[in-house]
Amino acid sequence: MRKVYAQISGLGMYVPARVLTNADLERMVDTSDAWITQRTGIKERRLVEKETLTDLATIASKQALENAKVRSEDLDLIIVSTTTPDMQFPSTSCLVQKEIGAKNAACFDLAAACTGFIYALGVANQFILSGTYKNILVIAGEVLSSITDWKDRSTCVLFGDGAGAVVIQPTTEKRGIISVYLGADGNFADFLKVPAGGSRLPASKETVEKRQHFLKMKGNETFKIAVRAMGEAAEKALSLAGVSAEEVDCLIPHQANIRIIHSVAKRLGISEDKVFVNIDRYGNMSSASVAVALYEAVEQGRIREGTIAALIAFGSGFTWGGCVIRW
Ligand code: UT7
Repeated sequence: MRKVYAQISGLGMYVPARVLTNADLERMVDTSDAWITQRTGIKERRLVEKETLTDLATIASKQALENAKVRSEDLDLIIVSTTTPDMQFPSTSCLVQKEIGAKNAACFDLAAACTGFIYALGVANQFILSGTYKNILVIAGEVLSSITDWKDRSTCVLFGDGAGAVVIQPTTEKRGIISVYLGADGNFADFLKVPAGGSRLPASKETVEKRQHFLKMKGNETFKIAVRAMGEAAEKALSLAGVSAEEVDCLIPHQANIRIIHSVAKRLGISEDKVFVNIDRYGNMSSASVAVALYEAVEQGRIREGTIAALIAFGSGFTWGGCVIRW
């Protein structure tokens, strides 16, 4: 029998104060509140003004550490899941380490797009189960506004900025992360990407003029695969955990589109009152979406001691994943 489980012992989140409403977007591109609400479920999103990803991540992290009663110098590892790091290097995790004074922690960033928080939980889980580390800080944060094309109505209405953080520690009680399932298919790399700015297409006058540093998405095609992959991710993670869909008390899906969320819940046979939704207030924050939703579900008492929560996500790559947690 397994002696150690990895449990989430503290949570934090931060979203910038600036709110961009659908009415604001109506003044920026050819769109309407009715279209955005009906097609996506989003009413408003938060955007940074002067803050960096490190600023968002640092505030969320300090709250998570306080919540877990863990001193920053006792952290062994910091993982930051992001597709919008402050810079290509050093990693944002090193920048956060400096801000919070976690001088004894190893640091790296992890790129799995919107699925990144679940990938990072999977990595942290392994470090705990192997006995390598005792105090791990997992952060999922994004400044998607920095890669959003504010002239492209098909994408600019979707995204927001924010960060969530959790502290993960070992426990001998049978609680915490019960299963993690991760999947990917690089054949779909072109469906959702930022074409320029990497080593394949470095920044140049031409790439800037062609707006290639902004996110491009084949929305409709991505939608269909997202429903299928998130459903499969949930089924695989539940099966690995030995938990049935009926036993799930709270489903925390990636917040990309309310219609995707409803379709996945229906496919799994999970009633909508068990599904956590905050897309109306924040839009799609990529990997930060599940982390922030988890924080709010705990804060609102939707997740409490004994609750079985299923986290599922899907994103660029394509990547997808599921994680079952007994709280
Ligand atoms: O987070 C990672 C994964 N991401 C996702 O899973 C997102 C998946 N995709 C989606 O959520 C949806 O596909 C979108 C919300 C992006 C788009 O919704 P859709 O129902 O798939 O719309 P569509 O792209 O098929 O476009 C339908 C119509 C088009 O007009 P015509 O060609 O029918 O005349 C678009 O030009 O809606 C138009 N349209 C808009 N109209 C008003 C597209 N964007 C807008 C807009 N406002 N913002």
